[in-house]
Amino acid sequence: MHWNVFWTEKDIIGDMALWAIGDFHLSLGIGKTMDKFGDLWKNHPEKIRKAFKKRVKPTDTVVITGDHSWGRNTAECMPDFEFIASLPGRKIMIRGNHDLFWDAKRTDRLNKGILGDRFFFLQNNFASYKDYALVGTKGYCFEGRDTLEHFIKIRDREIERLRVSFEMAKEAGYEKFIMFTHYPPTSIGENSSLFTKMAEEYGAEQVVYSHCHGIEHFYDSFQGNVNGIEYRLVSSDYLKFKPAKILD
Ligand SMILES: [Fe+2]
Ligand SMILES: [Fe+2]
Repeated sequence: MHWNVFWTEKDIIGDMALWAIGDFHLSLGIGKTMDKFGDLWKNHPEKIRKAFKKRVKPTDTVVITGDHSWGRNTAECMPDFEFIASLPGRKIMIRGNHDLFWDAKRTDRLNKGILGDRFFFLQNNFASYKDYALVGTKGYCFEGRDTLEHFIKIRDREIERLRVSFEMAKEAGYEKFIMFTHYPPTSIGENSSLFTKMAEEYGAEQVVYSHCHGIEHFYDSFQGNVNGIEYRLVSSDYLKFKPAKILD
């Protein structure tokens, strides 16, 4: 008798979970440690490995919300990719501001290349989890480091990419959405933004983001329920490197 007799598709679906965490800032290839950011970051890849092992099953899905590696190109990032690939679960990647390996205009090339076997790069496309569409893009917020013109240009480009993601999912028949960005959905002090409005327009149930590091930035944007949407920060230092469960 074959094992598959006991392992039906229903069992596998019932035994799934969706997780998120971001900002690993790995440097296994180039040795740029995060130690200067405090004790929490000491040997942090090991903390990530342990937390994944404890929580995430191979049948689970994990959305990793950007700033994956300090490497400046794919070759420099490769040991970090190997590390991430060795963690349990299907991995969906969001582009962070430090992800120099990811040419935003060539996401298709990443998905079709050697890394595409191990990761799904989410931009101008969508992934599915049960009856949910996982949509997302890098996003953007104003941090006082660029001109208003530059901010508007990048933000509008990201809003367009997010709309493409939502629209593709909608066209494929999805009605339930979880939205992922790297940047927080609002700039400091904002009560709404084009990103939060888009989440509301399409009826996203959750908006998941990272990028915010250190206690002084953990509350830069929304957390909890705002206008019926659950906002969640999943930067790895905020989560102490333990992936957050987004859906069962
Ligand atoms: Fe980061
Ligand atoms: Fe970032």
